[in-house]
Amino acid sequence: MENETFIRRLPKAELHVHIEGTLEPEMMFDLAARNGVELPFDSVEEVRAAYEFSNLQSFLDIYYQGAAVLVTEQDFYDLMMAYLVRAHDDGVVRAEIFFDPQTHTERGIEFPVFLDGFTRAICDARESMGISAGLIMCFLRHLPPEDAVATWYEAKPYADQLIGVGLDSSEVGNPPEWFAEAFTMAQDAGLHAVAHAGEEGPPGYIANALDVLGVQRIDHGVRCEDDPSLVERLADEGVPLTMCPLSNLKLQVFERLEDHNLGRLLERGVVVTVNSDDPAYFGGYVLDNFVAIAGALDLSRDDLVQLARNSITASFLLEEDKDRFLEELDAVAVS
Ligand code: ADE
Ligand code: ZN
Repeated sequence: MENETFIRRLPKAELHVHIEGTLEPEMMFDLAARNGVELPFDSVEEVRAAYEFSNLQSFLDIYYQGAAVLVTEQDFYDLMMAYLVRAHDDGVVRAEIFFDPQTHTERGIEFPVFLDGFTRAICDARESMGISAGLIMCFLRHLPPEDAVATWYEAKPYADQLIGVGLDSSEVGNPPEWFAEAFTMAQDAGLHAVAHAGEEGPPGYIANALDVLGVQRIDHGVRCEDDPSLVERLADEGVPLTMCPLSNLKLQVFERLEDHNLGRLLERGVVVTVNSDDPAYFGGYVLDNFVAIAGALDLSRDDLVQLARNSITASFLLEEDKDRFLEELDAVAVS
């Protein structure tokens, strides 16, 4: 069996995908026309040609611009549904999906507009395809910590539509500990917590995300290798890393996929997972990421099964649901 077919059949959780990063250029144009929003591009091809990034910031500048076409509840529904259809096709059984409320509220779009669109699509997809999904609300770390606190207060009445909170956007110079107040309030309300750390920032950001914010997973975490004692800690404590190989390649975190440290960390016993981050911008959904990293690092079938297994165990599913998916996974692994 081809790697691609084998990986597609493995039940997988996607734990690191930004819904705004699933906005394909075709949908960007459709929504721009629907909402009368002007785009700085004349064609889909021109948009794709603009997706040449030198680092995280050069991507974020274009990414926040693209989100401006999302206006109505139906727009957010369509975006979410398109992602869930694609994820289901890749063999994703569970998706824990980031969104950036501040990108929308600062344009005057209120919580019920995007949250109801997302939630309606998640319910419909559950019914039509059986895929399970949950929402993780991210605070934008390039904005002041007080804005994160204010965003939490705005979100609180809708907390039952969320499974967790996260931290994203420009990392270097915006350390996790600044956001402790917003994270504590969300955790006190029963939400899970994750944070982007060690994508471009130093390993100390990973340690502080764990120790100060109390997060349960680290998003990216590739820079952990700069501190061998931190790698040991991540392995010992079973802290999952939600890694995104094609994102790291596109944002020049690694020059070549062959240089990626996912394989080494997996070998060290770190709970590594494979994810897509912003698939419309980085050239691949979760299956594409699996296939690309498997080829570049010459991963074995056992490695691929371990990566899929990690994604299920690192998810925020109930234990009984994890057990069910792990059983299904074991059956595919020996088939
Ligand atoms: N927002 C969307 N993608 C991101 C990434 N890779 N890092 C930080 N913030 C993001
Ligand atoms: Zn991300």
